[in-house]
Order: sequence, then C-alpha cells, then structure tokens
Amino acid sequence: MSGRRPRIVVTRRIPDPALELLGEHADVWLSPHDRPLERDELYAAAAGADGLVTLLHDRVDDALLDAAGRQLRVVANVAVGYDNADVEACLRHGVVLTNTPGVLTEATADIAFALILMATRRLGEGERMVRAGGTWTWSMFFMLGSGIQGKTLGIVGLGQIGTATARRARAFGMRIAYTGRRRVSPELEAELVAEWVGELDELVATADVVSLHCPLTPETHHLIDARRLALMKPGAYLVNTTRGPVVDEAALTAALREGTIAGAGLDVFENEPAVHPGLIELEQVVLIPHLGSATIETRTAMAVLAARNALAVVDGKPPLTPVT
Ligand code: DGY
Repeated sequence: MSGRRPRIVVTRRIPDPALELLGEHADVWLSPHDRPLERDELYAAAAGADGLVTLLHDRVDDALLDAAGRQLRVVANVAVGYDNADVEACLRHGVVLTNTPGVLTEATADIAFALILMATRRLGEGERMVRAGGTWTWSMFFMLGSGIQGKTLGIVGLGQIGTATARRARAFGMRIAYTGRRRVSPELEAELVAEWVGELDELVATADVVSLHCPLTPETHHLIDARRLALMKPGAYLVNTTRGPVVDEAALTAALREGTIAGAGLDVFENEPAVHPGLIELEQVVLIPHLGSATIETRTAMAVLAARNALAVVDGKPPLTPVT
C-alpha cells in the first residue's frame, strides 16, 4: 500500500475499538445506516475499496467482488460462520476471506446451554404465563419439565463451540455423544467422556437433546429434516445455535405440533429475521433472535479481530484467521 492509505469499507456499524483501529491505518467508509445495505448500496460503497469488513447478512459473491474492483485484497467477515460468502468467488478474485473463530466460542456455548435449560425446563412458557397474569399455584404437577442429569447430549459438530457446550453439559451431569466430519483427539474424547457415534441417524435416535454446531454448507442444508426428526425420541429436544437452514423449519414445526419430539430451542432461523409462523404459536419451542455472540465483550473481540485481519492483508501481511 505504498504511498496511499488503504480504503476500508465497513458495511454496518461495528464496535468503536475496531473502528478506531481501522481509522489509525486506513481511510474508513462506514455505512450511515443501521440496517443491512441494499445490494446496489453495497456495490456502490465497495467500489474502489482495498478491504471490506462485512457482516453475516452481506452476500459476498462475484457481483460484489466485481463491483469492488481489482484492487480489493480482503473481505473480513465479522462472524465465525461464512456461509454468506462464496469462497470460490473469493479465490477466483484473489481476495483473502477471513472470519472470527475463537473469540465467540464461550458466548455461543452459553446460549446453546441456556436454550437447553430453557427448553427442557419450560422457562419461556413459564415466563410468558407469569407476564400474561396467568393463574397458578405451586403444585406437584405444575409445569413439569425434563431433568437433564444423566441424559445424553448429542452434539453435531464437536468443534470449538460444540466442545464448549459439551463442557457445560458435563458440569450439569450430562453424557456426551457426538458426530461430525471427523473424530476429535483421544485426549478431548477422554476429557469430555464423549462417545463417537459415526452415524447422524444413530445420534439423533439415541440422544435426549440434540445440539447443532456444524457450519451451514450445501451438505448440511436441512440436515435435520422430517425423516431425522421422526428418528428422534418423543421426549427429545433439538437446539440450534448454528445457522437456521441446517433445520427444515416447516418439518420441525410439524414435528413439534404432532409431538414427534418434546421441544426445541432456536437462536437461528431459516429466513432470518422471519420465523416460521407455526413456531410462534407453539409453547414448547424457545425462540431467541440470533444472540449467540451478543455480548459487548464478544462483539468487540469479533470486530477487532476482523479489523486486524483486514489491516494485515492490506499491509501485505498474512491474516490472523483466514478462510482462504
Ligand atoms: C457467527 O459468528 O457466525 C455468529 O452466528 C454470529 O453471532
């Protein structure tokens, strides 16, 4: 970048420490809108940028990379998931794509475990009932949920977030079973006392709670569909903190309605921010608005990591956390 300051485009406001860091080393264009940019706004903003700092709602594809121009070096996505980005298109354009692994692991695992507790102990339903002025007295049989101690948590994808969720589950006395693209190290299996279940069908059929931690890819789209929901135990729960389209939401709605499974906890939705209307009507599903990484500390760490990635690449250095 000899002779001129790089131009970095930030598609939506990010925490100040990251903006300040970018501003020390680059000319920063920050979207004035507190909403996702429309496609034409995004293309216009990206034109001439050396780096783009994108959010998970920005589609990073050939059209955007073309609109940015040949000087574009890096797209720093402020998320660990990068299903919003066409990796092949970035490779074709010689653009480095980065994400933000590691810094949101604990916050997201907290939310996964919160959803497990909320769903199994009917906390959303109870809270709604109290707020609505419902009539209740303590009784032996009032609003009973399912205990989790001694039950099996089936983890789909024992990566960083899956592992952090499993650690929480162990502390609550749960047994861990898992599947995924590959088996983890014997040391990690021993620490978690985790049983490798090669087949997803077997995992969903035997777990009391299934928690999804795999990335969204063409292979994991609708990984949990009507057939797999039908394999689950009638008393089982499904928790999704990864990406909405990993679950067929219409099939889940039907499975909950028909009592095929006992309940669910969802932080992510197939067509975010829309939620399947059938789910809204059901008491046994907990619905929260994609809060996995939503702490001040975590969002700041994500944004600073993305900023450092962008600055490294425009400065000719290797990114800290590259995807490509
Ligand atoms: C991510 O980083 O992929 C999360 O979904 C953001 O909360």
